[in-house]
Amino acid sequence: MIRTRMGDKRKILSVVGTRPNFMKVAPIVSALERRGEEFEHVLVHTGQHYDAGMSEIFLDELGVGEPEHRLNVGSGTHARQTAAVMERLEPVLLAERPDVVLVPGDVNSTLAASLVAVKLGLAVAHVEAGLRSFDRTMPEEINRVMTDAVSETLFTHSPEAREHLLAEGRDEQQIHYVGNTMIDTLVRMRERIDALNAPARHGLKVGEYLVVTLHRPALVDGPLLRVAADALRALAGQMPIVFPVHPRTRARLAVEDPTLVDAPGLAMLEPIGYLEFLALIAGAAGVLTDSGGIQEETTFLGVPCLTLRDNTERPITQSMGTNLLLGLAPARIRDAPELLAAVRARSHQVPPLWDGHAAERIVDVLAKSETRRAISARRAVSAPTAAVGAQPPAAASSSVAI
Ligand code: UD1
Repeated sequence: MIRTRMGDKRKILSVVGTRPNFMKVAPIVSALERRGEEFEHVLVHTGQHYDAGMSEIFLDELGVGEPEHRLNVGSGTHARQTAAVMERLEPVLLAERPDVVLVPGDVNSTLAASLVAVKLGLAVAHVEAGLRSFDRTMPEEINRVMTDAVSETLFTHSPEAREHLLAEGRDEQQIHYVGNTMIDTLVRMRERIDALNAPARHGLKVGEYLVVTLHRPALVDGPLLRVAADALRALAGQMPIVFPVHPRTRARLAVEDPTLVDAPGLAMLEPIGYLEFLALIAGAAGVLTDSGGIQEETTFLGVPCLTLRDNTERPITQSMGTNLLLGLAPARIRDAPELLAAVRARSHQVPPLWDGHAAERIVDVLAKSETRRAISARRAVSAPTAAVGAQPPAAASSSVAI
């Protein structure tokens, strides 16, 4: 099939792979579609997450549509998963020849895609740049630092991200504080979320239950999981708990505490879709989590969030929002009622530009960015001998075979 480069349209190729990527990219896809006379968009799904409940339901609910390319990499060690994305993405990028490769977040697919793109001489734009936990035992922190290091354009959503990027030597001109695209999705979906009436459908009363999500290796892959399970069992006697269980956590619980599923007051669910999950959070007394994105969603919704981690790459959710870091200390789960009350007593605000319009600002920046052809021409002039192997193979400028 021949795909024609349509006039001077910029071609943006986004790479998604895991559950949290979909809601970060969805509003950008819509904003690009609304400016279809200026942009062409191509979506690549790496398949890092592949269960229907971790992937397809999000594409459906968020209206992202069917990806143009699926890489079907699946699970594996970090090296295997990252390598599989790199190997399978390279021919796609060579065929599509986008002007910009857009990567969201901090997962293995994000890093793999940015490495492939930059080595092909393609411009990388990172959505959610500059977040730092300063904890290099977290795979996500490595992915963030490396992705930012090779990205041409850095889209940030909290003020401290800019400071981190400047401290790492990035140019001020490359940093764009645009706001939070995950919150764009929440704003866009708010009516549908509220219409679900999710707490009642789960037999729960608004403001009286706790939502739990746990999936990070530091918590679920070792002995702390059993401590967490005991504490959840005890807490469920005081307040109802609804716990959509990540596949990684379910597999570990089957070994560590197979009877937790029978604990009275605790509903362990399969992973649930975006709308239902947000509806459960919006109606909760609070959330207990080790996720990154949920710290932001709860801050926007004004729902207390207890984060079972020693650090957060999202400190604004603590300084301005409703987040409270408990430390990697699952025994503290037992104190959840008092901790939630303490957070509720604090004042909180939504961070600046978490207003539902981040994607439009991103697209405004992309509209002014250099095209692939301009970048190639600039590089050819400034470094004529360094170009060998650094560019995609020459193809007719008017058409690309895929
Ligand atoms: C990944 C991200 C993490 C993100 C999380 C959201 C990295 C390093 N980690 O972690 O930052 O917060 O996604 O969920 O990229 N599995 C399934 N079905 C699936 C996906 C995973 O069964 O659809 C199971 C597999 O056994 C797999 C395990 O979960 O080995 C872990 O999956 P993986 O994608 O490697 O990491 P996550 O823990 O999901």
